[in-house]
Formats: sequence, C-alpha cells, structure tokens
Amino acid sequence: MEGITAFVQKLLPGSADFDAKAGAIALTNDEVMIVGAWDKDINFETKDAMMPDARSHKSGLLDRTSALAASANLPAFVSKLPKAELHVHIEGCLTPERVHAIVVRNGLDPKEFDPDEATARRQCGSWLHGDYQPMMFCGPNEMAINAFLTEYTRNNAMMRTEQDFYEVMMDYLERAAENGVVRAEIFFDPQMHCFEDNSGAGAAAVEMMGGPKRDPKGIGKPRMKYEDVVGGLTRGIEEGKAKYGVDAALILSFLQDRSLEEAMEMLDQAIKPENIGKIIGVGMDNGTGPWGPMMGGVPNSTARFKPCYEKAKAAGLMLTAHAGEEEGASCVNMCLDVLQVDRIDHGVRVMEDPEVVKKIADRRVPCTVCPISNHRAQIVPRIFCGESPIRPMWVNGVNIAGLHSDDPAYCAIGTVDKYCYSCEPQTYDGYVNSAYMRAARDSGLTPDECVTIAKNSLEACWKLTDEQRAGYLAKLKAYCTDWRPSQ
Ligand code: ADE
Ligand code: ZN
Repeated sequence: MEGITAFVQKLLPGSADFDAKAGAIALTNDEVMIVGAWDKDINFETKDAMMPDARSHKSGLLDRTSALAASANLPAFVSKLPKAELHVHIEGCLTPERVHAIVVRNGLDPKEFDPDEATARRQCGSWLHGDYQPMMFCGPNEMAINAFLTEYTRNNAMMRTEQDFYEVMMDYLERAAENGVVRAEIFFDPQMHCFEDNSGAGAAAVEMMGGPKRDPKGIGKPRMKYEDVVGGLTRGIEEGKAKYGVDAALILSFLQDRSLEEAMEMLDQAIKPENIGKIIGVGMDNGTGPWGPMMGGVPNSTARFKPCYEKAKAAGLMLTAHAGEEEGASCVNMCLDVLQVDRIDHGVRVMEDPEVVKKIADRRVPCTVCPISNHRAQIVPRIFCGESPIRPMWVNGVNIAGLHSDDPAYCAIGTVDKYCYSCEPQTYDGYVNSAYMRAARDSGLTPDECVTIAKNSLEACWKLTDEQRAGYLAKLKAYCTDWRPSQ
C-alpha cells in the first residue's frame, strides 16, 4: 500500500493527501487516468522506431493519458472528435419524416410515403432485405445497391421547390454538428431534379416494359431550375453555418447512368458566372445502369465523362468520382488515370488489384470510405462475416481520408425513429459517428487511428485557405490533448 501511495504522490503533484487505504475514490477520473499511465517513463521513441508501420499511422495528437481515456470510452471520444465529412449525398439525408412533409406540402399522394413504413424499410441490415424493389437489370452483386438507388430516386423525385432543398440541408447540418463535423463537402444530384430521365436507368426500365425507346445521347425534358436546387442548398448552408457552426460546400455529382450530353448541359449551367461560386467540385455517382455489363454496356463506362471532367477542371473545379464500389479496381484505375480525379469516393474494391493499391497509395489519393453504406450495399459480400477492407487498405498505405455516412438517412442498422435517431445504444444511426464506430468494431481501430483518419479528412478538404485548414487541425489537436471521459 505504501508503495502505491508514494507512486501516486510522485505522479500527481499536490496529491500529498492521497491515502492508498482509502483507495482511488478520492481521485478524479482525470487523475485515475494519469495514475493508470504506469509506463510513463518508457521511451516510446525507441519502441516506435522498431515498429515503423505502426508509427507512420500515428496521429501524434493523442498524449498517453488522453489515449487511455479514449480507448475506454470510444463512442464518447469519437462523438465530438472534430472531423470533415467529405462523402455525403444531400438527397441521402432525406429522412422518412422529411419526405412525408415535402410530399404533403407539394400536394402529392402521402399514402405512398408513409414515414412509419419507410422507417421500417430502412432498419434492416442490407438494402436487399428491406423490402426495397431492385431494378430489373442488375447483376447479383448489384442487387442491394440498386434496391437502394430505386428508393432513393423515387424519394428524390418528390423534391420540387427551393424550400425542399433548404430544409433537407438544415436537417443534415444539425446532425453533422451533433456528430463533430466541422467541415462538410456535400454531393447533390442536380440532373435528377432538373431533367426527366430519357437516357439512364429509369429510361431503360421504361423501354423494357414496352415504353418509348431510351436515347443514350438524350437530354431529358426540363423539370426544376438548377438555380432553385442550388439556391435552396446554398441558403441552407449559409443559415446552417450561423445556426450550427458547420462550414459546408457543394459538389455537383453527375449521374453515371445518364448520357454525357446531359452531364455537359448540367455542367454548362453550373459554371455560368452567376453560378460557379456555388460549387467547389464535381463528382460522379448512381449505378452504371444501362451502361453496365449486364445491359451490354462497357465496364468502366465512367471514362465516357472525360470531356466533362476536363471542362470542370478548366473552370477551376476539383474532381472526384465514385469508384471501387459497384465496380472494381479497374474503375478506380480509370478514374485516376483518365478522369484524373483529386479524390476517390469509396475505393474499397481497390483491394482486388495490388497494382492499383500501390498506385493509389503511392500517390496518396484520398479515399472517402463509407463503411456502413458498403455494408448495407454488400459491396464486399464477406463484410457480413466480419471481413472489412479498411484494415488491409490502411496497412497498405492507402490514404483513408475520413470515414463517412454516404446516405445517412438510409444507412441505419438496427432500430431508429422516423427522424433517423437511434432508439437503442447499440444502433448505428447511419450518421458519420456510426461510420467511425462501425469501422472501429470491424477493423479494430484504436482511438489514435480514428484520430489519424479524422486528421486525413481535414487534410483532404478542398478549397480551404491555409488559415482555415490550420484552424481545423488545431481544433483537432486541442480536442485530443484535452479530452477526458467526463466531457
Ligand atoms: N448515390 C447516392 N449514394 C450512392 C452510392 N452509395 N453509390 C452510388 N451512387 C449513390
Ligand atoms: Zn456516395
């Protein structure tokens, strides 16, 4: 006992009154953690030098006391860890409740959009098991993602006014702030709102059912004005910044199942002098649809969009694309070499080709990984057996630039309410902290690895001033050094 008393007194200046017989009850949580750091005198620099791989993944921000505290309290630690969310679709933030409210306001049929039924559909483990109707033309590996995209497209079509876009942005920014997000770079799919589909997956489905022929070079009939879509989102971003303190920006995402001509038309509208300042970059999403191998299309059909990417770059925009999700490593390779992207969204299937892994790792191209979405889309089918690509990517030097929600309102695992809030502690509500917790569980991420991943996310943000980036990194550093369980 005396030994412990002396030990505590040595470690804790001012603890002369510590009485080991009374136990540690008199100590605060903070003090217990310091006492717990019994290996304080070990020279970790020498130890680290013997484990260069581990060292290269270290954040350098968590001191030992905070690290010990954080590992015992990972959910609380991660919950306010300052982070950037770089892969989230604003349409993927449409909660059942919000779709219902929009449908009612727009005079559409609310029976079709019952929030309780929609919540039940979204609660399952995979999008395949949630009573979603997948599109007819998809391969076995694409069933779950296409089931999701069908529901997503149907709900998005209910959005008709500037106010609809404003509201969903405010919904997201509120949740982002609760999740410790300091910077969000948010995708939107304007083609879904501005044009009827006459070249993509929807048009192909209509044709298959005996309707008019799809036009692979077509530009769909106009629906909403681009200015109303981007206007509502921008109004939400400005108000959200003032109300929730989250700094946000928009990335225009092209639909890869639609024609190049339509994507070009959308880009031309977006880069008009009065509009260009409202976006920071372009991306590419949606399924390959009729361009995919199942419909006789070409693998890696994303390469069709090279002229669009060149034009966007010339206009000063940053470039990214979904790859290594529905399609494999060759799609990632093509996005790197043909589209010359600055980031890759998802990227997890890069692990199927060691040469592409090496290329993406050597170039340090940031990958915005979305573990819960990948799980629900069964992108890596063995994910259900506990196999996650995150650890292999990490040890092979791939730049995992944050973990992200993708489509948070559709990504719950377990029971959530119609606003997508968790109903029980074990539930993954789908928002960005769930992505960190899920990856920590599946891939055994330590708190320090979570910090490095969050740091990567801040370093991968686009169009920040040096001052802004330094400010976010300083915030992360302060959080890590000061963090204690009672917070
Ligand atoms: N659009 C929204 N979420 C998507 C995803 N996970 N993959 C492709 N397109 C999407
Ligand atoms: Zn996505």
